[in-house]
Amino acid sequence: MPQKRVKLKLKSSARKPLVIISAVVVVIIIILAFYFNRIGELKNLGYSEEAAKSIIFKFKYSYIMDIGENKTLNAAFESDDYIEDNLDNYAKIDYENQKHLIRNINKLLDKGYSVDEVNLIISKGDDKSVSDFTKRDKVKYIEEFLSVDFAKLENLDRYVEYQDKENDDAETTVLYVNMDFDKEDYVDPIIIDKFDDYVLVNKHRQLSSEYVPDDLVKIKDEYVKTDEDVEIERNVAKAFYDMAEAASKDGMELMVSSGYRSYKDQEEITNTYLELYGQNYVDNYVAKPGFSEHQTAMSLDIASKSVNTFVNSDEYVWMMDNAYKYGFILRYPKSKEDITGYKCEAWHYRYVGKKIAKYIKDNNITYDEYYVMFLDD
Ligand code: DAL
Ligand code: ZN
Repeated sequence: MPQKRVKLKLKSSARKPLVIISAVVVVIIIILAFYFNRIGELKNLGYSEEAAKSIIFKFKYSYIMDIGENKTLNAAFESDDYIEDNLDNYAKIDYENQKHLIRNINKLLDKGYSVDEVNLIISKGDDKSVSDFTKRDKVKYIEEFLSVDFAKLENLDRYVEYQDKENDDAETTVLYVNMDFDKEDYVDPIIIDKFDDYVLVNKHRQLSSEYVPDDLVKIKDEYVKTDEDVEIERNVAKAFYDMAEAASKDGMELMVSSGYRSYKDQEEITNTYLELYGQNYVDNYVAKPGFSEHQTAMSLDIASKSVNTFVNSDEYVWMMDNAYKYGFILRYPKSKEDITGYKCEAWHYRYVGKKIAKYIKDNNITYDEYYVMFLDD
C-alpha cells in the first residue's frame, strides 16, 4: 500500500509540467498558425515575405489589410529606412523602382515637400537624380514644370533659367530644354549609346565616328539616282520598295540619291559643300560628321527619275501626301526650321514606322519633338 501511494505521488507531480508544456506547445502552434496565416494573406496581397514579417512585427497587419496592395508600402516595410510617422504618406506615393526610394521620400517629406510634390519629384527622376535632389534646399516651381508629362528632374534648373529668358509657357519650356535649345548647336552634345530604329540624331545628339548600323542592304540599282551604290537599313529598304511600288501605280517614279553615309562620307560631303558654297550653306543644309541622320541608315534622300530638282517634281507632291502611309516623314519641313536646325530639305525622308509617321503628320510636329515627348527616357 505505501508503495502504491508513493507511485501515485510521483505520477501526479510528473503530470503537471507535462500539462504546462503541452499547453505552451498548443499556444505556440496556435500563434504560429495565426502568424503563417497572416503572412500568407499578406503575400496574397502582393507583399514580399520580408515586408509581411515586418508588417506583423510592427503591428500593422490590420492597417495593411484595409489598404490592400501597395508597392510603396511593400518597399517601406522591406526598408531599414521605414519611419512610422510617414506611413500614411508612403501609402499615397506612387511606387518607383529606385534603390533609395524610402530614404528619399523621408528626406523630401522632411524638407517640407507635399505628397503631390514628392510624387512628381520621384516620378520625374531616377535614383541618382532624386538622391542628389534631396541634398538641396527646398526648390520652388516643382509643380509648374514637373507636372509636364515628359519633364525631367535633372533639367529643373534649366527650365527655370530658360523660362526666365524666353517667357514661354511651362510645357514649351520643358519641350525646348529637353531638346537642348538652351545649348548652342554642336556644343556639349549627348553622345548616343543606345541604337535602335528610333534613334534621334540632330545638332545636339552625336553618334560616335565608329558607329556603323548592323543590317545594311544595297538599294536595287533601278531605284538609285547616283553613280554610287546606296546602302540602307533592311527594313527601310523594304518600306521604300513598298512605297515606290505604290507610287508607280500613281504614275510616279521614286528613286533615291543618298542613304547610309559613314562618318567619313559625311566628312567628305561637308568639305565638298564647304568649298562649293561656304560655311553658311553647310550650317543650314549639311550635318557635321557624327551629327548626320544618314549615319543611322534610317534616312533616304528621295529623287524623281525625270525631274532633277525634286521640289519641282510630281514625286515631291506625292511624297508630301503619301509618305507617312509607308512609315516615312519629311524630316526637315519648311515651317519647322527653328526646331530642326536645318533649312527645309524637300528630299530628306526619315523612316519611323507607320504609327509614328501618321502621328507626326496628323499633329504637324517634327521627329525631334515626338522623340522628346514619347521616346526619351
Ligand atoms: N542634310 C542633312 C541634314 C545631313 O547632312 O544629314
Ligand atoms: Zn538627307
